[in-house]
Amino acid sequence: MVTTAIGPSMAVDLGGIRMRNPINTASGTFGNGIQFEGFYDVGATLGAITCKGVSAVPWDGNPAPRLAELEGSAIMNSVGLQNPGVRGFVDRYGTYLQGLRDKGCQVICQVAGHSVREYVEALELFEELAPFASGFEINVSCPNIAKGGAAMGATPEAAAEVMSALRPLTKRPIVVKMAPHDVAQIGRALEAAGADALSLINTIPGMAIDVRTRKSRLARATAGVSGPAIHAIAVRMVWECAQAVSIPICGIGGVSSGADAAEMILAGATAVSVGTANLYDPTCARRVVDELTQWVREQGADDVNDLVGAFDA
Ligand SMILES: Cc1cc2nc3c(=O)[nH]c(=O)nc-3n(C[C@H](O)[C@H](O)[C@H](O)COP(=O)(O)O)c2cc1C
Repeated sequence: MVTTAIGPSMAVDLGGIRMRNPINTASGTFGNGIQFEGFYDVGATLGAITCKGVSAVPWDGNPAPRLAELEGSAIMNSVGLQNPGVRGFVDRYGTYLQGLRDKGCQVICQVAGHSVREYVEALELFEELAPFASGFEINVSCPNIAKGGAAMGATPEAAAEVMSALRPLTKRPIVVKMAPHDVAQIGRALEAAGADALSLINTIPGMAIDVRTRKSRLARATAGVSGPAIHAIAVRMVWECAQAVSIPICGIGGVSSGADAAEMILAGATAVSVGTANLYDPTCARRVVDELTQWVREQGADDVNDLVGAFDA
């Protein structure tokens, strides 16, 4: 008798974005995919990539230094969404990203803005210029220029206002990237406003002070903490949000192994993004795909979807 090792089904549906496996990359930590091609065949390996946040017109980002390494498996960044604008992004990366789609890897384009109007302008341009986008991720953590820099999605009402304005502009799936607070309440508001999926968490605000100079270790006083050190917090927030909404979730935060991704899935995530780990281990996302598949097999499941939310509380 010949036995063949048929693997479990790893395909998932993130609110209409049909991924060959649950593994995605977190915005801003994977370039726009092409920067990692020297390490592995991105298009043949990952379920999806999420591109860096892009606004209607180019943004410069924040002054340097914008990155600091912390003790205990974490970094801090205040890159500030530096990007070439939608036209510049499409010119530079459009052909490559269409190639990823052709290989079966979904491409999620991230939309940034400082006001509802700026999000509308950016999404309208993406609709017109980016046929390669499988769907859009709306980053509601951008600072709102009309409200003294508070995040655009800081309250359920503000997050829903952005979502409601964008919903009529595209038939493609919309994922909303959430900041790490009030995730159940804000998640419910986003679902009601028409979001197809949610992704969480974005970085956690922190500070790192050089005690010798008494100045911040970055150019700005506060910055976003990410990496393995925030993983347990992210798993808890995914779990809280998953119990509050019925749309699918992409779990993000400190994922660097198949076991980390499995925790996100058990907590209720349908897809999982690898973020900061890409920066210190460029082949991490590929390894996470392999380790996660092995875990599903070890659990005796035929389909990864059977394990979504299977945490035994
Ligand atoms: C250098 C850097 C740049 C980032 N840029 C973005 C961005 O453009 N848009 C966004 O929504 N999140 C951005 N993030 C946040 C990540 O997508 C992710 O939500 C966060 O880092 C938590 O995941 P991790 O711990 O796996 O890195 C960035 C993170 C880092 C470290």
